[in-house]
Order: sequence, then structure tokens, then C-alpha cells
Amino acid sequence: MMDKIKRPIITLDGPSASGKGTIAKLIAKDFNLYNLETGVFYRVLGKEFLGKSINGDILKFLSGLKKNIFLINKSYKKELYQEKIGVEASKLAKLKVVRSFILLEQKKILTNYPKKFKGIILEGRDCGTVIAPEANIKFFLNAKVEIRAKRRYEQLLTKKNEINYENILKDLISRDRNDIKRKHSPLKKADDATEIDCSFRSIEETIMIVKKIILSKLPNFK
Ligand code: DC
Repeated sequence: MMDKIKRPIITLDGPSASGKGTIAKLIAKDFNLYNLETGVFYRVLGKEFLGKSINGDILKFLSGLKKNIFLINKSYKKELYQEKIGVEASKLAKLKVVRSFILLEQKKILTNYPKKFKGIILEGRDCGTVIAPEANIKFFLNAKVEIRAKRRYEQLLTKKNEINYENILKDLISRDRNDIKRKHSPLKKADDATEIDCSFRSIEETIMIVKKIILSKLPNFK
């Protein structure tokens, strides 16, 4: 069923480790918005695709997927954040047929998310450009790759001891390349998005800026 009254759509795009996931989660909680993490869709397919060849029949793979494949629980979601699944997701995200398949699912949610939410916030790479070009408010979050790598390194230090800054930096540079250079729906700022460089801003400062802009455009969100 389609939404009768259009609820606001907010998009938050940006590269890996720019902080957009954390920010979207907090904004969603504060304003009672549905949080659509669009990267999870690619990770789900990445997990299903593990061990299969990209040269295989991708259409057959997609048509063989279970109907409710994107309905996931917390522990399954945790598994999706393994390194090898991220790598697989990134490869699949380049394929037009995969993107079209996922786009359809994302669009369904955009018009059908639960009524208890006041609106929706989408977070990813192509939210403001492809999934919801009609969004009311668009953000593009950016930060220098060395700073993103340092933040991710510090975050991982608390969980693992065997990590290396240089490897994290290399990995982020390669992910950026995959995201920006891909032919279909590359990562780019929508013309009407507000760009925030958070290289020298804390997450708290960035959230304040995002909130201020949201409230200036949607004052009834207060
Ligand atoms: O944000 P993330 O790391 O969970 O994303 C996983 C992969 O999916 C990553 O390789 C980028 C890709 N992705 C995409 O191509 N488009 C999106 N809207 C979101 C993620």
C-alpha cells in the first residue's frame, strides 16, 4: 500500500567510514525516523554469494534467492560486517543487474515502511541520487581518507590487537575507488545535497549541524 500522506525523506550519502551510519542511527532515534541502511542489502547478497564466481549466471543467482532474504535479525546482521562479506558486497555493487534488483527492494521500503515513523532516513552511496532523488533533505558527508582510516583504526584497536593503520588506509582507498569509479550509480554528491566535511569535526558536532539543517527545513520535527 502506498503512503497517502507523504512523510519526509532525508538522505545521507558518503564514503566508507565517514561516520554516516552512526549519524543516521542517532538522527533516526531522535526524530523517530525509519533508518534504511542501504549497504546492508549489498552485504546480504555478498554473504549469499560467498564462494561463488562472479562469472557465473548472476541472474540465476538472483532469481534463486529466498523471497524474504532482506528480512534479517540482529545476529545475522552482525555476521554481515565480516571483512570478507564487505569485499564480496563491494564487487556485487558494481553490477547493474544487482543494483536494479536491490533498488526495487529499497523503493518498496521507501513507500511502505511502518506507519509509526514520522519519516525515513536513508544512508549509503546513492540515496540522494538514485534511490530517493525526490528526498526533502540531502546530505553528503565527507572526510579525508587518512582521517577516516585513523578513526577506523582507533575504533578497531579496542576490539582487536593485530591491526595495522597502513592496511586500513589501503583498504579504504580501494573501497573509495570502487564506489566513485563504478559505472552504475557511483558515489557522488547530489546537486542539491549539503556537503559536510567532517575531517576536523567530531561526530557530535556533525550531528548538531545535521539536526540544525533538518529543523530549519522541517520545523514541525521539534
Ligand atoms: O555502507 P556499507 O559498507 O555497509 O556498504 C557495503 C557495500 O555496499 C559497499 O561496498 C558499498 C555498497 N553500497 C552501494 O554500492 N550503494 C549503497 N547505497 C550502499 C552501499
